[in-house]
Amino acid sequence: MQSEISKRKTFAIISHPDAGKTTLTEKLLLFGGAIHTAGAVKSNKIKKTATSDFMEIEKQRGISVATSVMTFEYGGKLINILDTPGHKDFSEDTYRTLTAVDSVILVVDSVKGVETQTERLMEVCRMRKTPVIVFINKLDRDGQDPFILMDEIEDKLSIHLRPLSWPINRGPFFKGVYNLYDHHLNLFQAGTQATDENLISIQDLNDEKVDKLLGKDAAQLRDDIELIDEVYGSFETDGYLKGDIAPLFFGSAINNFGVKELLDTFVRIAPSPQPRMTETREVMPNEDKLTGFVFKIHANIDPNHRNRIAFLRVCSGVFERNKFYFHTRLNKKLRFSSPVTFLASTKNIVDEAYSGDVVGLYDTGNFKIGDTLTEGEDLHFTGIPSFSPEIFKELINKDPMKSKQLEKGISQLTDEGVAQLFTVTSNNTKIVGTVGELQFEVIQYRLLHEYGASCIFKPIQFHKAVWISSDNPAKLKEFIRTKTNYMAIDKDDKPVFLATSEWILQLTKQDYPEIQFHNTSEF
Ligand code: G4P
Repeated sequence: MQSEISKRKTFAIISHPDAGKTTLTEKLLLFGGAIHTAGAVKSNKIKKTATSDFMEIEKQRGISVATSVMTFEYGGKLINILDTPGHKDFSEDTYRTLTAVDSVILVVDSVKGVETQTERLMEVCRMRKTPVIVFINKLDRDGQDPFILMDEIEDKLSIHLRPLSWPINRGPFFKGVYNLYDHHLNLFQAGTQATDENLISIQDLNDEKVDKLLGKDAAQLRDDIELIDEVYGSFETDGYLKGDIAPLFFGSAINNFGVKELLDTFVRIAPSPQPRMTETREVMPNEDKLTGFVFKIHANIDPNHRNRIAFLRVCSGVFERNKFYFHTRLNKKLRFSSPVTFLASTKNIVDEAYSGDVVGLYDTGNFKIGDTLTEGEDLHFTGIPSFSPEIFKELINKDPMKSKQLEKGISQLTDEGVAQLFTVTSNNTKIVGTVGELQFEVIQYRLLHEYGASCIFKPIQFHKAVWISSDNPAKLKEFIRTKTNYMAIDKDDKPVFLATSEWILQLTKQDYPEIQFHNTSEF
């Protein structure tokens, strides 16, 4: 079992839409032999779609089931890439996927630098101390100066970088990258795919070979590398594994340039499956008995088959087909006759899966995000929190005869993580919170087609949902009473304060120093 575990590397590629995540994923799969031609991976990116095109979006989400997890072997390792949605309205899905990985590759566009989505995603990585490798993409375009880019990344993402490769010029004058770790030059030729033969070993940068190859760019490279060595010192894998230092690579995904360096370093340094915390104890990946948690649920968009796929991250033991497992929240035993794993765009029935693997389980409504499976122990994995939504709307039933269907529908859809549900304590108003407008259309459509319930959404001006707690139960009670019109409970009956503006939130924090306000449902 130990050798199976140490073989595995489970990670996600994250980026702001359009930075090149899909292109990079594809190149990695090509290296792993999981696909053989470029363009084989159906992008689950929802291309600049108008909101009215939500069925198309659902269809694309459907396609993305197949590419949710892509497994390939490279350098004797088994690599699981967990895909994340490209559209920002589905960033909740991405946050949850990050709970199921052991490391992350972050793609930054060299022209655009750090973008909003990148900042939010990195916040989640920092919270969890997830090891990150940064890939600055599109060096073939006239991007920003690499030192300025690095400053921007370190500043905006609060992370320390350590360049392991360095670009020689950029845009139309881009010559290639110098590998600071293996000391070789990789020269770029537009339109051709990089191979190992293009690598030129350079043990001493003062060698006149460098001048011959790079012309007047040689002097700049020497200056840059001297500065980097002075400022950054040597690279320690330990700092990376602790989430303190992010190794940095430069390249061009579309030209497959700099990608192999990235992958080779990734298999060498990225962590294998890590221990995971539960409410009661830490679970080690090499424990005999199976444990795992559900981090994502995918609905089948075909209304005739209302089954769903729950994605289980295996945290310890061996997952076996047809064996009974204990669903700790429901206190019930379940077994799975056709669990699936995912290899590029095909689904395969799996007989066994190990720590670090992701298994797709067909489900008829037993699972919600965060659910734990074990062989009998009463465990609940932690670290799968909800984050405050950004858009809030009141759910209004349009057909009083169908209120039961609406209740059931909204409850199941929010179990899947399509949106969050808050119930206002004073009057039972149901408030749906999402990170994007798209979800409201998706919910409305699915409630009607899958549950026969019709609803409308009324916009309400809430800015943020914050979870509250206090060491002083009397103060907490008093706060909840005073703020009754702004208090709600989430799906787990936890109290949530709905702030109407950032200013109100700050003021409330000042007024109630004994109350703790939390940005996530776990604290
Ligand atoms: P995403 O998944 O992060 O959203 O990005 P994706 O890989 O789809 O890439 C976004 C666009 O950037 C694509 O162009 C892609 O071809 C381009 N791209 C990716 N890597 C590089 C690179 O190294 N250099 C340059 N110049 N472009 C790159 P598109 O026109 O939006 O799509 P397509 O029609 O090419 O698929």
